[in-house]
Amino acid sequence: MKKMKVLMVCLGNICRSPLAEGILKHKVASRGLDWEVDSAGTGSWHVGNPPDERSIAVAKKYGIDISSQRARQFRSEDLNHFDLVFAMDASNYNNIKKHATDSDQLNKLDLILNESYPGQNRTVPDPYWNDNGFEGVYELLDHACEALLDRLLSA
Ligand code: 4NP
Repeated sequence: MKKMKVLMVCLGNICRSPLAEGILKHKVASRGLDWEVDSAGTGSWHVGNPPDERSIAVAKKYGIDISSQRARQFRSEDLNHFDLVFAMDASNYNNIKKHATDSDQLNKLDLILNESYPGQNRTVPDPYWNDNGFEGVYELLDHACEALLDRLLSA
């Protein structure tokens, strides 16, 4: 299949979307695919920073190293460059949507959990203020990335 370009977006690009990027990259590589997978935040506070140490730790527990990622801010051009842009929650979704200039760009955008729970518009909870939230976020994203690959590879 064609080389897909996928962008994962959250608020800070230090907790949820770096995990989503790491998990999808890992699954893509293990299937021998050559895709471009990246992540970004709608906010700018953490630009240039590595992922939150709690995200690094939960990824490491599952054999995935995300420590070399660095946060960047989402930009309008991302809706041009990427084939698929996934938001973690409705707030991220609405912020990205404002950048869309036409229906082609808008059609690239969805909530990531609509891959695993189609049509339900579920949210990946922000774990930043909750030390216990990271494991659950990992599991939600692992499930969603698996569903995304199943969908695209069977298309
Ligand atoms: P993320 O989590 O959007 O999953 O990266 C957050 C990280 C930082 C902040 C909020 C959410 N913050 O307010 O700095």
